[in-house]
Amino acid sequence: MTRYTVERLGHQGDGIVAGPLYVSGVLPGEVITGEVEKDRIVGPSIVTPSDHRVKAPCSHAKSCGGCNLQHASDDFVAGFKRGVVQTALTTRGMTAEVCATETSPPASRRRAVFSARRTKKGALVGFHMKASDTVIAVPNCKVLSPVLLGIVPVLEDLTVLGGSRKGTLRFTVTETTGGVDILAEGGKPADGPFLAQLAQTSAKPGIARLTWEDELIATQHTPAVNFGAAVVTPPPGAFFQATQEGEQTLVSAVLELIDGAGRVADLFSGCGTFTFPAAQSAEVHAFEGEKAMIASLEAGWRHAKGLRTVTATTRDLFRRPLLPDELNKFDAIIIDPPRAGAEAQIAEIAKSDVATIAMVSCNPVTFARDAEVLIAAGYEMRNLKVVDQFRWSSHVEVVAGFHR
Ligand SMILES: C[S@@+](CC[C@H](N)C(=O)[O-])C[C@H]1O[C@@H](n2cnc3c(N)ncnc32)[C@H](O)[C@@H]1O
Repeated sequence: MTRYTVERLGHQGDGIVAGPLYVSGVLPGEVITGEVEKDRIVGPSIVTPSDHRVKAPCSHAKSCGGCNLQHASDDFVAGFKRGVVQTALTTRGMTAEVCATETSPPASRRRAVFSARRTKKGALVGFHMKASDTVIAVPNCKVLSPVLLGIVPVLEDLTVLGGSRKGTLRFTVTETTGGVDILAEGGKPADGPFLAQLAQTSAKPGIARLTWEDELIATQHTPAVNFGAAVVTPPPGAFFQATQEGEQTLVSAVLELIDGAGRVADLFSGCGTFTFPAAQSAEVHAFEGEKAMIASLEAGWRHAKGLRTVTATTRDLFRRPLLPDELNKFDAIIIDPPRAGAEAQIAEIAKSDVATIAMVSCNPVTFARDAEVLIAAGYEMRNLKVVDQFRWSSHVEVVAGFHR
């Protein structure tokens, strides 16, 4: 059988051998054999393992599509993620020192999306298998918090009630101080006696709220999340940083970067992850595209004590980015866009006089694109850090400061 040597990992964690051929579950330097199907090597056998190869900590690692780097040591994964960021920058002619990766501990994911199907025997709730539509149960998952794993039986009951054997239900679950907040999408329409059945089924210890599509079914306890001195009740399915530890690391890094700023704009603010910690010492104006998140943020501010003034605006920052005149009212900007980055908004920031930008990004490629524009406009990039909230996956999150 042909032997192949893995040259490197691509940014999504796949091994690359000459050709190029792509192969999952391998590490650089490993000699492998396997069947070639189109541009992939499937079912690879490892002839010469890497020194960085470890026994996968999770019993589902082979089949589950949730983690793709469980076969690599923690040091390797941390270095790989720094490398992904460095490559994204060097591709655009930039270099920067990337500080040590801060990795969230196992069992710390407080937000997840489960897939669910009805089966002949009942229900299956879990994650998709690697490169497949098939859903598998993940009772031994090593990334989810015990609280999220603990509510799977309730999700199974909800799937029996409202799922189908053909379609897949999606449960977005978030751990909050009031219990788990559940948003179900893709199930039967919530009407008639079904509504009452759903409410009854979700009335279990540990469940805060159930929303079925757009319908609020029941709130047993208020789902609440603490951001600095504020308590926010998020809209169903709202964005949150994936782990508490990751959030704390990002918040500390952002606060350090904007230290001394009296007026701060928080762009793509979500429900206020950075807004409220920054409002300990600065007046903050939050901008976010989702009206419901801004409403939650404003309600959190009204009840919070000891903070400077927080104001908030719903605004589509892709279509209507803040213009230089608006930006120049602030001493510092926090910007945390979705994966697409913030091309239009960054172009306006580049024309502004704002001295400090704290940028958080979940996509090194768009981060590098946006960083290049800021650097061309005279900003200097500092304190670039990888924050790993998605342990054992190839997902990379970064935070960096831009100053002039
Ligand atoms: C990566 S999240 C960050 C949220 C927040 N900073 C946090 O840490 O919780 C990106 C946010 O951008 C918002 N968003 C997406 N597209 C947007 C747009 N075109 N204009 C304004 N906000 C948008 C999303 O609703 C989401 O809250």
